[in-house]
Amino acid sequence: MSFTIAIDGPAAAGKGTISKAIAAHFGFAHLDTGLLYRAVGRHTLQGLDPVEAAHALTAEELDQGDLRTAEIAQAASKVAVIPEVRAALVDFQRAFSRRAGGAVLDGRDIGTVICPNADVKLFVTASAEVRAERRFLELEEKGADVTRGQVLADVRERDARDSERSTAPMKPADDAALLDTSELSINAALAKAIEIIEQVQHTAR
Ligand code: DC
Repeated sequence: MSFTIAIDGPAAAGKGTISKAIAAHFGFAHLDTGLLYRAVGRHTLQGLDPVEAAHALTAEELDQGDLRTAEIAQAASKVAVIPEVRAALVDFQRAFSRRAGGAVLDGRDIGTVICPNADVKLFVTASAEVRAERRFLELEEKGADVTRGQVLADVRERDARDSERSTAPMKPADDAALLDTSELSINAALAKAIEIIEQVQHTAR
């Protein structure tokens, strides 16, 4: 039986951590859909056409090299504006969402476009300042040479592009539960998410 959890929200809100922990807790498979756009973005940095790259994308590429760099994040956000790129990635995401045993997908448009019938929808967010600080600390730990100001500007630029694009803009689905991690620790947000999912599982029984 399939059970789909859609988790959307902006960069560095805690979505990835929460999604992974939920998948581990319930024994579900997890797909970070940002990696698909990042893999296409990486191809464009190497000079490839984004639409061709999206059509040719393979699951194996998602595990190759470090896709989580600031440069690839910006390239991903740019290719994600292109409707043909988004369309090329739909089938892979939907097939994943229907896996037997349950699936957690995180991204920007999972609850609105990819899985509008998901069993549970969460929108994980936080203020741009809180998210930039988290991202800055992560990048600093990796040894990246960035300032807080640059990271905040990057976060704001990406938020604007992701939420203002005309195809599948980032926004909470009407029936999504909002989790704001500005003032809530990631662990508290995770506990809340687990509670919401268990309630749905309970009523579905
Ligand atoms: O979640 P992330 O930071 O890895 O995502 C990178 C970019 O990919 C993000 O800025 C927008 C795009 N993206 C998207 O448009 N739709 C998704 N479902 C996931 C990511």
